[in-house]
Amino acid sequence: MAQSVWGTCSLFFLIQSVLGTSLYLAKRDEILTQEASHYSGIDVPLKGKEWAVNDVIMTLKNSEISEGRRTSDFPPAVHFFHALPYIDKSKVFEIIKLMPKGAALHIHDNAITDINWLIKNATYRPHCYVCFTHARGNILFHYYDNQPTDNNTCEWKLVETERANSGDAEAYDQMLYDKISMITDDPHTAYPNQQIVWDYFNAYFAAVDGLVFYADVFKDYFRQGLQQFYDDGIQFMEVRALLQPTYELDGTTYNSEHTLLEYEAVNTEWLNDHQHDSMGSRIIFTSIRSSTNEVINNVINLAMELHSKYPNFMKGFDLVSQEDDGHPLIYFLEELLIPTQAGKDLPYYFHAGETNWQGTETDENLIDALMLNSSRIGHGYAATKHPEVLLELKQRDIPLEVNPISNQVLKLVDDLRNHPASTLLADGYPIVVSSDDPATWGSTPLSHDFYEMFMGIASAKADLRLLKQLTTDSIKYSTLLEEEKASCMDMWSTEWDIFLDKVLEMYNITDWENYVPAPTETTITDGAAKLLCLNITPIILAIIMVNT
Ligand SMILES: *[C@@H]1O[C@H](CO)[C@@H](O)[C@H](O)[C@H]1NC(C)=O
Ligand SMILES: *[C@@H]1O[C@H](CO)[C@@H](O)[C@H](O)[C@H]1NC(C)=O
Ligand SMILES: *[C@@H]1O[C@H](CO)[C@@H](O)[C@H](O)[C@H]1NC(C)=O
Ligand SMILES: *[C@@H]1O[C@H](CO)[C@@H](O)[C@H](O)[C@H]1NC(C)=O
Ligand SMILES: [Zn+2]
Repeated sequence: MAQSVWGTCSLFFLIQSVLGTSLYLAKRDEILTQEASHYSGIDVPLKGKEWAVNDVIMTLKNSEISEGRRTSDFPPAVHFFHALPYIDKSKVFEIIKLMPKGAALHIHDNAITDINWLIKNATYRPHCYVCFTHARGNILFHYYDNQPTDNNTCEWKLVETERANSGDAEAYDQMLYDKISMITDDPHTAYPNQQIVWDYFNAYFAAVDGLVFYADVFKDYFRQGLQQFYDDGIQFMEVRALLQPTYELDGTTYNSEHTLLEYEAVNTEWLNDHQHDSMGSRIIFTSIRSSTNEVINNVINLAMELHSKYPNFMKGFDLVSQEDDGHPLIYFLEELLIPTQAGKDLPYYFHAGETNWQGTETDENLIDALMLNSSRIGHGYAATKHPEVLLELKQRDIPLEVNPISNQVLKLVDDLRNHPASTLLADGYPIVVSSDDPATWGSTPLSHDFYEMFMGIASAKADLRLLKQLTTDSIKYSTLLEEEKASCMDMWSTEWDIFLDKVLEMYNITDWENYVPAPTETTITDGAAKLLCLNITPIILAIIMVNT
């Protein structure tokens, strides 16, 4: 008898506790499903081949993440200069390189083409002079007709002679590369803080300016940039350009409009050669944010003029250079309101919130960028610290241009798993991936940044749907006209199909037509399966007990 009461009691207790656990798991599952429903790309439909390719990518992604957790050496968690050789060996990276990436919307004029091209092509042209200064970065170039006689600022030496005298052209060229590039074996020692890293970053631009803006080099440099981006799977690029004067050997210089027209000439020629697979480029005119009000007043007027003259090539305006160091947007309020007050159109694409300092003027640039109707926000690194900004970004559908490697090299964040865009992806904010200044730190035009985004910033669960969302959003948020966006989407779509086939081929998958998608967070989850099981178990148990 006692035995039987005890049996009934323990059965009751068992049922109670199992039901309690199952309720817990049901609730947990509901939260996870709810959370997953916010994630960027979660609603992107996949079909046929895409599920098979997704399975390949996710198997590789999970294995690379497991390896990273096992060894504590996860590429996105370490400095790009150390991560680079590991990323280049990654199978996920191999696939990302093949993927068509849509548009690169945040890149700067003289940091788009690989430094090697400048060295192997530009510095091999006649009349190229070099000088080693005592400033950071330590190298400048200029083309002169004859040996400059004024050595006050620099002792100019003819590259051709120096290279010949060195006796080892390869070693000489490597020395030039090392001096121009920011790449170093020990970035933490070489760049101990943001100020010093920006000094070197600025030195890169000083070094290449004399090469890039030589009239004879300028168009080839840009054409080479278009080619390299195209080769990296990019259908369209928007270049932020200072429109600096180009110069001739005899010292003649040209104006900003001339530089713009040179870009346009290259673009037109490029489009003729790529009618079916590239939308070429457009320009966003930029100025330096440490300028005076007077300079910005002139520049804004020039920008309005150039935009009205070339509305489908010169697409808008932005202020660049170190945000923490220059003037905030509010400093130029009067100038930046000129177009609105004049009833003229000048779309803005402001860099804003590229800072770690909360509550400073730089941080508040985010507010001004929104008030000035910026069409997109460059970086917006500080956005997660501003609830009102976040609200506006979503309501007005304004994307942030996220540049993972730039943010790491320029020391906003060490470990890319801590990048604020993680939070933004988790809650479906509009985002595009870009590369800012890939030549400066030796990354590919966009592939490395996509890898860091997909592996380090995004969730371990984020899959091909996120990649599809990010690549198509880059076209959606571009400055292209509606009908051009449609053409660009067609080009992307054609390349996407080729990409899917390549991945299937690489992994010998032929039966994709019978492919059943793996269960995902929004269909059926582990939790739901467990729940089902646990709900039935006590009933079965009860039946067994009663019958014995
Ligand atoms: C540099 O590139 C241009 C354009 O591609 C080419 O015509 C020229 O021959 C190259 N010059 C050198 C020195 O490699
Ligand atoms: C400037 O430097 C060049 C190269 O070292 C030299 O040939 C030239 O004589 C120098 N000019 C003056 C005025 O010192
Ligand atoms: C921004 O856009 C809004 C809505 O179109 C408009 O009312 C406002 O004047 C614009 N602000 C500026 C500074 O152009
Ligand atoms: C695909 O098949 C080829 C030829 O049978 C083989 O060499 C290759 O390793 C296979 N690739 C994968 C990823 O299994
Ligand atoms: Zn930038």
